[in-house]
Amino acid sequence: MKIIGTGRKHPAQVVTNAMFEQRLDTSDEWIRERTGILERRVISSERLVDMAIEASRQAIEDAGIAAADIDYIICSNVVNEYVTPSLSCIVQGAIGAKCACVDVNAACSGFMYALDMADDRIRSGKAKRVLVIAAEEPTRMVDWEDRATCVLFGDGAGAVVVSEGDGLLASRLTTVSKTDCLYYLRDLEPTPYVSNEAYNFGPMYMNGKEVFKTAVLSSVRDIKALLKHAGLESSDVKYYILHQANMRIIEAVANYLKLDMSHFPHNVDRCGNTSSASIPLLLDELARDGKIQRGDKIVMSAFGAGFTTGAALFEWTK
Ligand code: ACO
Repeated sequence: MKIIGTGRKHPAQVVTNAMFEQRLDTSDEWIRERTGILERRVISSERLVDMAIEASRQAIEDAGIAAADIDYIICSNVVNEYVTPSLSCIVQGAIGAKCACVDVNAACSGFMYALDMADDRIRSGKAKRVLVIAAEEPTRMVDWEDRATCVLFGDGAGAVVVSEGDGLLASRLTTVSKTDCLYYLRDLEPTPYVSNEAYNFGPMYMNGKEVFKTAVLSSVRDIKALLKHAGLESSDVKYYILHQANMRIIEAVANYLKLDMSHFPHNVDRCGNTSSASIPLLLDELARDGKIQRGDKIVMSAFGAGFTTGAALFEWTK
């Protein structure tokens, strides 16, 4: 598999740390020091599905193909206004593709799981070109009165088109069922037999310290496994495109790998944590800015609720 096109769409509304200072007992200084976030882009008048469509159109155009050439669409998403139909299904109609579609939810690692599914599809000969999207609006899961969570997130949609090729050098997925440190329970309709009172619906719960520790250790473990598999040193990789949850997590991973921060591009400072969209958003930014050249090695590594992780090592072939 190789990546042949990328695209992205950010919401228009910028929310700065100063804007939180006006509403909550928090400060720009606290948010910067603990997270590295200066501002985030937050959905307001946009709809997530339209952002997914725009990112997909860009990726298809960048790949130099037509929507009709896409054989399969996979969209990573945790929440959006539609429970059904799937986002991928709506995107398919809007871009004029005719293929089968599915959404996947592996929390913030979802893009890596979707890429892995695309690779399987291509290896099995069932598809030649797959559109992989990650569209997320985590700002709709948090309590905007809870300073410990609402300052962390942003929204966005990123997309890639992948095809047959030899860009993917190694990949790895892991899941450990650890469901009490990060979760969000959605409200369902009551029935004559089920009342909602028995359920603890409500905004996202996160044990930040626990997530922090697990994220750093799992990312380092996954990256080392990929490097070992490919026979590479950590310095052979130009960019480590990590899930953008917190600057301190990214710095801790850089420390463990004994690399300077020039190997760790980031958008968390400007976008916040955009869940599974963070890696394709950053990848598109780097690719369009000409920062990734043919032959460069890049690693993507994500971690998320579950606890899930996913990582992949690519040689850039575009
Ligand atoms: N402003 C001011 N004070 C705050 C804020 C805020 N926005 N948020 C929390 N605090 C306070 C707390 O109330 C607490 O006060 P107390 O000591 O009086 O009780 C104090 O700051 C310390 O709180 P901690 O939670 O211990 O702070 P910590 O240093 O762990 O930082 C953070 C919290 C930023 C969430 C950190 O744990 C973290 O980044 N964890 C990783 C989790 C993450 O990135 N999750 C993203 C979603 S999950 C995912 O993407 C997979």
